[in-house]
Amino acid sequence: MAQPALIPSPWEAAPEARAPHAELLVGLAAREAVISPKYFYDPLGSKLFEAICALPEYYPTRTEAAIFAAHQEAIAAAVGQSCTLIDLGAGNCVKAASLFDALRPRQYVPVDISTDFLHQSVAGLQKRFPQLPMLPLAMDFSATLALPETVDAQRRLFFYPGSSLGNFDPAQALDFLRRVRAALPVGPGEGGILIGLDLVKDARVLEAAYDDAIGVTAAFNLNVLNHVNALAGTDFAPRDWRHVAFYNARQQRIEMHLEARRDLIVRWPGGRRTFHQGERIHTEYSHKFTEQDILGLLEEAGFGNCRMWFDERRWFAVCHAQAR
Ligand SMILES: C[S@@+](CC[C@H](N)C(=O)[O-])C[C@H]1O[C@@H](n2cnc3c(N)ncnc32)[C@H](O)[C@@H]1O
Repeated sequence: MAQPALIPSPWEAAPEARAPHAELLVGLAAREAVISPKYFYDPLGSKLFEAICALPEYYPTRTEAAIFAAHQEAIAAAVGQSCTLIDLGAGNCVKAASLFDALRPRQYVPVDISTDFLHQSVAGLQKRFPQLPMLPLAMDFSATLALPETVDAQRRLFFYPGSSLGNFDPAQALDFLRRVRAALPVGPGEGGILIGLDLVKDARVLEAAYDDAIGVTAAFNLNVLNHVNALAGTDFAPRDWRHVAFYNARQQRIEMHLEARRDLIVRWPGGRRTFHQGERIHTEYSHKFTEQDILGLLEEAGFGNCRMWFDERRWFAVCHAQAR
């Protein structure tokens, strides 16, 4: 797609994002097959995620938005004015935009792997906020958090809403937060993170959120197979697979899988794999957190002065923490 005129050239994608087949094929060939959740987000996947956010069962988006709305003055006071707002996995950029008036950032840097969707979102946003410098970066932040020099180094605020941190397992989450800390200016208090995290709650509420009645989350999960076909030349037929989502209480996480409906063979250039009926491909974890988990992770990653805000049901937490 042609790039909209308003948008500066994107930061060059990480090498892994340019040639993802190797990682994908290693995952498909593994004893327990896996596809990273970052592959959900082709143009259709990004739109399906927007639809998920509108579902009655999917409480995280509206709960987090309500926390931002109710506490934006306190959040702005904690963050300080004129930050460089770096939005990790910006999607449609709606959450960051809801905070522009309160935070008054000096620069907005939405980062996303879903390149076309990112540019479309930012083109619309730039028209609404013509005075705010915007620098969209189409990159895979799980591969690198190295930002171009055009990203202002002063008062960086990494914005990481939507409990996306929960897609990492606990060790990866700590490593990722450490990399965010390393991308902040050296001095204590010179920058920080504003992060939204989903809290442990009743398994029925959690499972409904990831297995909605009209099947939008199922479509989102199955669409990853179309994206993998396009990227890696596999011949997945989505109708041979079924969406599975459940809460694993011991591991404090929702697990999403795709389960083969029958014995089948998936082929790709140079390889193939048999899946037996009932065999699964793991596509997403969504870890849930306690307040102690969040404070412990941030502390261990090099952040301090944590402030937290919650909704009335304590289903979701928004946390600001400063670099120590
Ligand atoms: C669950 S959506 C969240 C969107 C939005 N931040 C929100 O909270 O509603 C995750 C977003 O992160 C992006 N994303 C996922 N993995 C990524 C990665 N490794 N690098 C860059 N963007 C990624 C996706 O394209 C998608 O827009």
